[in-house]
Amino acid sequence: MTEIINKLFKGSPVSDDELAYIISGEYNDSLLFEKADAVRQKVYGKEVFIRGLVEISSYCKNNCYYCGIRAGNKDAERYRLTSAEIFSCCRNGYELGFRTFVLQGGEDDAFSDDIICSLVSRIKSEFPECAVTLSLGEKSYESFAAYRKAGADRYLLRHETADEAHYRMLHPASMDLSHRKQCLFDLKKLGFQTGAGFMVGSPFQTVRELVSDIRFLEELKPEMIGIGPFIHHSQTPFADRPDGSVSVTLRLLSVLRLMFPEVLLPATTAMGTLSGDGRERALKAGANVVMPNLSPVGVRKKYSLYENKICTGEEAAECLNCLKNRIRVAGYEMSFSRGDHKNYNRGATDVKI
Ligand code: 5AD
Ligand code: FES
Repeated sequence: MTEIINKLFKGSPVSDDELAYIISGEYNDSLLFEKADAVRQKVYGKEVFIRGLVEISSYCKNNCYYCGIRAGNKDAERYRLTSAEIFSCCRNGYELGFRTFVLQGGEDDAFSDDIICSLVSRIKSEFPECAVTLSLGEKSYESFAAYRKAGADRYLLRHETADEAHYRMLHPASMDLSHRKQCLFDLKKLGFQTGAGFMVGSPFQTVRELVSDIRFLEELKPEMIGIGPFIHHSQTPFADRPDGSVSVTLRLLSVLRLMFPEVLLPATTAMGTLSGDGRERALKAGANVVMPNLSPVGVRKKYSLYENKICTGEEAAECLNCLKNRIRVAGYEMSFSRGDHKNYNRGATDVKI
């Protein structure tokens, strides 16, 4: 076990079996967390970057079997923020100190490329020192190019699973893994800081699928990787499936920090939902980003990808204070900088320590 962790620490290649062993955790994983934290501190110090999340629409044309806002969920309450509302969330965030805004939503055709582009350019011209991240699902190369031209800096699009057969079990036939992967390569090519990622413990997932997720990430070299446990939602076909494991997620966060030393790695809300100190434990295992919610409190509960999501009743300022405290208690410091990837604009993306 120590030998495999040392290989990861040095950036030496590890086999699929070695990765599987580390993920499955039949050993004392404190050394793994320590090494991941050492790498994180060497690259990013004690800084934890904050991103203001604005959930712009709960309409979605897709029907992913795991997700609460899937088109087929007729009981889901839908909302769509106006451009003015989105802008006012960003202004509120700016005043609180946020320098990154993440506009996330279901795949909602009411948000045309023109609307998105004018929103992005308005945010960028009003707050030039801020980064804008989009997370709006799969789009054409031309659409991504237009967003980039309008000033978007980053794009999050979790690949969900890199394994074709597994992808089929999580999504209806209308969705296609190769298109999703193509989108990610397009985003990289267009110079976005690109985020991929997956759920941990999604139905039918085994360690084998997790290893292929890591191999895909090695190929893509994303600047950001979002992972969090799967959490069941009662109005989906996976209502009776068990939630993902916090411990497996923590080990994966550490493996990702060791294999991608400079990656931006969030301690996700899903971790905080399954475990009261899940986000703090994620930070100690190598994560270095948190994404508090800037959406209007009135719509928060409607953006329900999974049940019992935390922070749906708190104002942005309350979450910010709460998180600042939690981060300090965990031994880190909240940073109000843009929090770009270390190698952004400098070409190389896989510098090893
Ligand atoms: N549990 C946990 N994460 C989920 N997501 C969607 N549904 C769930 C769920 N039930 C994740 C997906 C998606 C991201 C926005 O949220 O990975 O890409
Ligand atoms: Fe939202 Fe603690 S982070 S209440």
